[in-house]
Amino acid sequence: MGEDMEMIKILGECGLADAARDWAQNWQLSSTGFNPGKLYFLEPTFLRESCEAMGFDEEIADAILGAAVTIRNDENLQRVAWHCHCLLSGVVPPEKVASFKWPLPTVEGEFTKLIYAPVFVGAYPETIRKHRERDIPAEISTDTFSDLPLWMRHYRGVHGVWGVDQTAWLGNHFRGRLFKLGRLQYESHGFGHESRALRNRVTGKVLVLAGDGLCFRSDGEYDGTNGVFDPDAWTSVFSVSGGVITGNPFSPRGAAQRETVTLDAGEWEVILQKGDTVLGFHIPACGPLLSEDCGKSLEMAAAFFPRHFPEIEFKAFVSGSWLFDAQFEDYLPPESNIVKFLREFYLMASPHSSDSQFFERVFGGHVADLDQAPQDSSLRRAGVALMKKGGRWRNVGALYFPEDLDWGKQVYRRMHTVDA
Ligand SMILES: CC(C)(COP(=O)(O)OP(=O)(O)OC[C@H]1O[C@@H](n2cnc3c(N)ncnc32)[C@H](O)[C@@H]1OP(=O)(O)O)[C@@H](O)C(=O)NCCC(=O)NCCS
Repeated sequence: MGEDMEMIKILGECGLADAARDWAQNWQLSSTGFNPGKLYFLEPTFLRESCEAMGFDEEIADAILGAAVTIRNDENLQRVAWHCHCLLSGVVPPEKVASFKWPLPTVEGEFTKLIYAPVFVGAYPETIRKHRERDIPAEISTDTFSDLPLWMRHYRGVHGVWGVDQTAWLGNHFRGRLFKLGRLQYESHGFGHESRALRNRVTGKVLVLAGDGLCFRSDGEYDGTNGVFDPDAWTSVFSVSGGVITGNPFSPRGAAQRETVTLDAGEWEVILQKGDTVLGFHIPACGPLLSEDCGKSLEMAAAFFPRHFPEIEFKAFVSGSWLFDAQFEDYLPPESNIVKFLREFYLMASPHSSDSQFFERVFGGHVADLDQAPQDSSLRRAGVALMKKGGRWRNVGALYFPEDLDWGKQVYRRMHTVDA
C-alpha cells in the first residue's frame, strides 16, 4: 500500500480522518523509526518515573498509564502516537509541522481521549534537557509541566472522562518554549497588532496609536467584532510626515478614539510595532488571580528571560483575553482580582474580539437562555446583567512595558489621568 493510502486507512480506523490534511505532508518522515510494540514512552516504568519527576500526582500518573495501555493495544494508535512524538521532538523538522492542534480519536475506550498525554510525557527527557542547558531552576520546570494535569482535569470536568485536547497549547511547554513563572505563563512571539506604541522621550508617557485605515465603531471597538456593525463607523489614520505623527490613540481602557492626535516626531519614539519580539503572557486557571502574585510574576519574567534567553530581546509583555475587558470595572467591585489586574495594563481593542471566550471560561460554553444561566458568582451575575442591557463581552489586548514595571500603581491610567 502507498504511504498516503496507509495513512488514510490508519487515520480512518482511529476516527482521525480530520488530521489527514496536516499530517499527509510529513507522515512519511515519521515512518522510518516506527517500531510497534517498542515505543519507549508507552513503557510503564518510563511513564511512572517521568510523571514523578514532573511532580504529577498518582491519579494523573495512573490515567496516563491507562492511556498508554490503550495505545499499546492498538497498532494504529501506536502509529499515531509515534507520529505526534516525531512532530514534537523535531524528528519532523519544525518548518514541516503545520500545527500542533491534533484532533481526538473517536474510537471507543476509557482512555482514547487521553492518547496525547503519554506523547507529551515522552517529550519530557528532551524538554528537561533543554531546560537544564539553559540553567532553568527545577521548580520552574515542574511548575511549567503542571499545566498538563490542569488541562487533563479540565477535560474530565467538562466531559466526564479523562482527556487532553489542548495539544497546540501544550506543544509550547513540551518543546521548551513556554514557562510558568509564578502566577503567569510566558512565551515569546512577534507582536501581531497593527497598532504602534510610542513613548514621549521627555515625560515617559506611552500612547498606543491604531494602525492606518482600520474601521472602528463609535464605542472604540473594531467594526464588525461580535457581529456588530455601526452605521457611524469611522476609519483610523496613521501617518508620519514633516516631523509630525498623526494617529488615533487607544485610551488605556482599550477604546480607539475617533479624534486624532498630532505628535512631534522628535519628541515621540516608536517603542513597539508589528513584528517586534514580545513576551506573550497567559493566565492559567490555577487559583485566584491575586494581584501581588501577578506583579511578582511579571518581575520574575523581566529577570528570567534576559538571564536564561538573552537572545530574546522582548519589548513588551502582551496578552489578549476576556479578562481584559474594562467593562468589568462597571460591573464588579474594585476589590475583584480581575478588575485590579486589568487596570494595571494599557488595553487595546482587538480586531478578533468576540464574547465566545468569556462564555467558555465563565459558563463553560454558549448560553442559549440568559434567564437559565447560573448566577452563583458576582462574575456570572455581571455576565448576564451586561448582556440584558444589550451589551457584549469582549476579548481585549493588554500591554505592559518592562521599563514601566511598578505593579499596583496603574501606571498607564496615571499617565492618562483623564481616563483614570
Ligand atoms: C482568572 C481567574 C483566576 C479569576 O478568578 P478570581 O481571582 O476569583 O477573580 P475575581 O476576584 O475577580 O472574581 C470575582 C468573582 O467572580 C467569580 N469568578 C472568577 N472567575 C470565574 C469564572 N471563571 N467563572 C465563574 N465565576 C468566576 C469569583 O468566584 C468571584 O465571585 P464572588 O464575588 O461571587 O465571590 C478565574 O476566572 C479563572 O481561573 N479563569 C480561567 C482562566 C482563564 O480564563 N484564563 C485566561 C485565558 S485567555
